[in-house]
Amino acid sequence: MADDAVIKVRDLLVGFGDQIVLGHLSLDVRGGEILGLVGGSGSGKSVLLRTIIGLLPKRHGSIEVLGVDLDQANEQERRALERRWGVLFQQGALFSSLTVRQNVQFPMRENLGLSPRLLDEMALAKLEMVGLTAQDADKFPSELSGGMTKRVALARALALDPEIVFLDEPTSGLDPISAGDFDELIRTLQQTLEITVFMVTHDLESLYTACDRVAALADGKVVAEGPIATMLESEHPWVKTYFQGKRGAMLADQRMSA
Ligand SMILES: Nc1ncnc2c1ncn2[C@@H]1O[C@H](COP(=O)(O)OP(=O)(O)OP(=O)(O)O)[C@@H](O)[C@H]1O
Ligand SMILES: [Mg+2]
Repeated sequence: MADDAVIKVRDLLVGFGDQIVLGHLSLDVRGGEILGLVGGSGSGKSVLLRTIIGLLPKRHGSIEVLGVDLDQANEQERRALERRWGVLFQQGALFSSLTVRQNVQFPMRENLGLSPRLLDEMALAKLEMVGLTAQDADKFPSELSGGMTKRVALARALALDPEIVFLDEPTSGLDPISAGDFDELIRTLQQTLEITVFMVTHDLESLYTACDRVAALADGKVVAEGPIATMLESEHPWVKTYFQGKRGAMLADQRMSA
């Protein structure tokens, strides 16, 4: 067990009716790292993320985030903890009736008693951080490209200067170049803001370029955990197919010769 873990999941069991999605899963996320979570579609990646942030109930096990055991925390402690993380959800990232600016300001309004002018300045600062401009601030979500939508969602996740950012498939639906740009942005933000990133992704490229460590989810458990090199050595059938399949092998070669 790593002592520098900011997220500690132990023996987690999550299910719906008869379906067990996560069975006795344990995972550490270390402070300051970008951890990539991979797994087949329906393997429970989003369920794990949503359980960690308290949106889904668990049947067994413990979850500790930033030193706080979620079962021990009272309502007030929970709310204080929620301000210390930001989330980019896989679906329905933005409020469609609010402008970009209002979307980014939403968590700020909820949590801080700030003047409108300061709120505007803060929203603009967050938008600039993710590569958007003041001109984008008054647009509505329907007027944004896919890549811009992801950036606004990221700006909103960063609204309260979180210590941990949870990202669920941040590059899905983007073309490879935009996805690469987004990975680079996440890397830069993680380094400059010194945040920890928990990133669910299907994107092999992201795992290679953005992540410090990877955890692979299969059969309701973490079946391999470590840097890419560890993934390449794994004997688990799913991990093997995923990382040593055609695209995986190509990326591994590129890396080797770089
Ligand atoms: N609220 C819910 N109620 C019932 N079943 C659920 C719920 N949320 C998720 N599930 C089920 O849990 C399983 C895992 O879903 P999850 O969304 O975590 O998959 P995933 O690994 O994120 O897949 P993808 O890569 O396609 O996003 C699925 O079988 C899904 O139907
Ligand atoms: Mg998912």
